[in-house]
Amino acid sequence: MKLKPLKFGNVTIDFPVVLAPMAGYTDAAFRSICKEQGAGACYTEVTSAEGIRRDSQKTFQFLEVSRLDHPIAGHIFGKSVEAMVEAAQYIEQLGTFDWIDLNCGCPVKKVVRRGAGAALMKEPEQIGEIVRAVKKAVALPVSVKTRIGFSPAFVDHLTIAEIVEEAGADMIAVHGRFACNFHKGEADWEKLGEVKQAVRIPVIGNGGVNTPEDAAEMVRVSGVDGVMIGRGAIGNPWLFGQIKNPAQPAPDLGKRRAVIETHLLRLVELTATTAKGRRCKAGYNAEQAACLRFRPHLAQYIKGLRGRRDLLQHLNDLQDVKTVLDAVDNVLEKNSEII
Ligand SMILES: Cc1cc2nc3c(=O)[nH]c(=O)nc-3n(C[C@H](O)[C@H](O)[C@H](O)COP(=O)(O)O)c2cc1C
Repeated sequence: MKLKPLKFGNVTIDFPVVLAPMAGYTDAAFRSICKEQGAGACYTEVTSAEGIRRDSQKTFQFLEVSRLDHPIAGHIFGKSVEAMVEAAQYIEQLGTFDWIDLNCGCPVKKVVRRGAGAALMKEPEQIGEIVRAVKKAVALPVSVKTRIGFSPAFVDHLTIAEIVEEAGADMIAVHGRFACNFHKGEADWEKLGEVKQAVRIPVIGNGGVNTPEDAAEMVRVSGVDGVMIGRGAIGNPWLFGQIKNPAQPAPDLGKRRAVIETHLLRLVELTATTAKGRRCKAGYNAEQAACLRFRPHLAQYIKGLRGRRDLLQHLNDLQDVKTVLDAVDNVLEKNSEII
């Protein structure tokens, strides 16, 4: 698959196949795993601009960055221009981010109800105002992550993309599904191609890339400058390496085991150190909290393996690292014929 290094502002993504922002998943632990497996860049989980403004400790946990994460975008959502500007300035002064990304596509009810995320696509002039003001306020490059529209009844993908470009954004990532469809159904890669034709800034395409063949096909159909992968990377961070090098074989069980362990241990460390343990739910210590947060990853890491169903039934009992890894070993033993 032919992809050139993607440049915008002073950011260069050498291999422009990037990890999508995913709330609840793309913390520093998972990001570092994906980067090591070949992801070209990543984003934080979506972070509330109002939360940053209110000085909320709960919000700051999302802005923890590890040295393995770069290049990385601080990914924020909000409706008010002032809040987005203040949040962008806060992120810039942290000195740990390579660019700022503005969320204009999140369909989650509590975000849309506040007029933020996907709701902004219904009034794209507001997107333009936010981008213009944030660009003026920070020196870091600014990108927008959006969709092909809120629904077919509202403003179309080309109008949104043109407003984003005209307002001065340095890059745009477009998810090829309408917000009203959340994450369901096929992504429309042809519409991504129309966006690519309509603007001069780099375009990253997103939606429905789960295999190296999907990535190649998205690029062939749309001509986008980069590919963003969300769910396809959960439990399968090797996907990035396989896209980079199609000859790379699927990981054997030993490699899977090693990545599962590293990911879990990094999550424990992150949970123990981040914002004074704010990732811990009340009543849980860091190890327990990390094991609970690891559950959806674990379920995907062992997808397709014999013994998975049994493990999933006891998922909530796996509350320390040793118990998790013993359960993983138990599953792997049942699949030892797989190399
Ligand atoms: C669990 C989950 C959390 C997500 N969180 C965010 C988010 O914080 N910000 C955002 O812009 N998109 C978010 N998304 C959307 C993804 O970034 C991506 O656009 C979507 O999953 C489509 O890509 P995919 O088909 O490769 O999964 C989320 C998606 C999922 C499944």
